[in-house]
Amino acid sequence: MSDLYAVIGNPIGHTKSPLIHTAFAEQTGQPIHYTAIEGSLGGFAGAVDAFRAAGGRGLNITAPFKLDAFAYATDLTAAAQVAGAVNAMKFDGDRVLADNFDGVGLVRDIIHNLACPIAGRCVLLLGAGGAARGALPPILAEKPSHVVIVNRTFAKARQLAEAFAHTGPVDAEAYSALRDQPFDIILNATSASQCGEFLPVHGDIFAPDCLAYELVYGKGLTPFLKMARDNGVRRLVDGVGMLVEQAAEAFVWWRGVRPDTRPVIEKLTVPLLEA
Ligand code: ATR
Repeated sequence: MSDLYAVIGNPIGHTKSPLIHTAFAEQTGQPIHYTAIEGSLGGFAGAVDAFRAAGGRGLNITAPFKLDAFAYATDLTAAAQVAGAVNAMKFDGDRVLADNFDGVGLVRDIIHNLACPIAGRCVLLLGAGGAARGALPPILAEKPSHVVIVNRTFAKARQLAEAFAHTGPVDAEAYSALRDQPFDIILNATSASQCGEFLPVHGDIFAPDCLAYELVYGKGLTPFLKMARDNGVRRLVDGVGMLVEQAAEAFVWWRGVRPDTRPVIEKLTVPLLEA
């Protein structure tokens, strides 16, 4: 008899989570059955209650329910509290344990899969929303030389930098102030690419050996990646590795076994073609 897991979101048709977790389960011999649930807007708690009543053991949570999941949880890990959002839950009787693996998944992808150390490097974080908030603490934990956050709404960048200034060297700047300071790692944590919009950054932000990382997955050569390429960056990546790594963290948390992420990343990687 398999243990039941699922991802919940709306819309959910695009999700790769069932494919990823099914691959992990086959690889590790874990008896799990993993499905996708389209929750109705405003109906998150009811959908999760029903899933638990049907024997569900754990959930991944994707947009737009990460804040609903935060509210639903009874026990939040430090990562979930810091991010202010939840992307994985497991159920233990009446208790709902909740975590957020997005940031740690990103950092594992950068360091282990892309072999790009963060320690001592200069990092630019574009955006100050949920994705940026989740990414910042594990990035700072790697001891970069400096992190700069820029955001369209500058006040949010400043708030985020201030909230984490005690944990490492992080500052906020306006897009217009970003001149003549090249960065080793540039993370696009804005949702601008999802609407095909260019960010108001200048080409001189890309250091010669820069890693340009688009946190979104499967959008091809986004405006951000295009700009990086046009300014000589050769290391262009999207969020496929982050997606698989955060799934692996949830899998370990649920099942106590670490899957090999590499074949799954290879299977899901699509060439970064011009949109
Ligand atoms: P997510 O959970 O994906 O991070 P979010 O919390 O809504 O989503 O955050 C979206 C981020 O993308 C924000 O930093 C937003 O900037 P604002 O705080 O000014 O809204 C940023 N963003 C979205 N569209 C953008 C655009 N066209 N140009 C620049 N930044 C953009």
